[in-house]
Amino acid sequence: MQPIGVFDSGVGGLSVLKALRQTLPHAQFVYVSDAGHAPYGERDVQHVLDRSAAIGRYLVDEHQVRALVVACNTATAAAIATLRANYPTLPIVGVEPALKPAAARSRTGVVGVLATRSTLASDKFAALLQAQDPKVRFVLQACDGLAAAIENAELDQIRDLCARYTAALGPFGRGPGEIDTLVLGCTHYTFAAEVLAPLVGPDVILMDAGLPVAQRTASLLAQRSTDGLTTDATAPWVDLWTTGAASALEHAAGQWLRGTGAARKIEIA
Ligand code: DGL
Repeated sequence: MQPIGVFDSGVGGLSVLKALRQTLPHAQFVYVSDAGHAPYGERDVQHVLDRSAAIGRYLVDEHQVRALVVACNTATAAAIATLRANYPTLPIVGVEPALKPAAARSRTGVVGVLATRSTLASDKFAALLQAQDPKVRFVLQACDGLAAAIENAELDQIRDLCARYTAALGPFGRGPGEIDTLVLGCTHYTFAAEVLAPLVGPDVILMDAGLPVAQRTASLLAQRSTDGLTTDATAPWVDLWTTGAASALEHAAGQWLRGTGAARKIEIA
């Protein structure tokens, strides 16, 4: 049984795992939350690169993963090229802010983007932005502290930060010059969608990249042998590991996903 490896700085990647589970219902997964070394979005690039390399090594060496999903925009921007160079034959899928699908959905031509400071400052994001339709205007907002608040399930703080950051982006709506599409450019933010939606109003579409990442993973795997791509009925469908508190990952997984077992704590150096 060769699982699919998925990692993030914390619980955010569970939003991608949810889409992966829906798209590949018979696959086995191993999920690593690097909460002990988070948040990534406000740390220097070298830290994120080192942590991503260490987790990639752990998933390949200890779990013999058949594919690797970097379920973190910040880690994708910092480390996907290095991971691909380290494991040239392994299918590796990253996540990046859904600018193109958002631009295609927008009617006003104004798209808001919420992401970590590090993602927005990356060369990868600059290239992504550059490749978009020049008629669409993207309004960017770095959300310091929001991933950490979501990680710690601090609801009051999540509400305050979402209110502050959407106010900085706005106005939202269907009128000329208003933002009608909001990109959730950090996998944690999907878990704040219920707080964000009333702040931006009913006319605004929220877009994350969980489903496209899951579909890309499925298509890469379909090009390969599907031997062993079935769930081991005796084990939970996902093996949860964390470098932080096991209770935090277990609680989030229990809240957002079904049929997950206990999370185990591990140090990955
Ligand atoms: N979930 C990560 C992302 O998608 C970042 C969270 C963090 O800052 O650690 O960018």
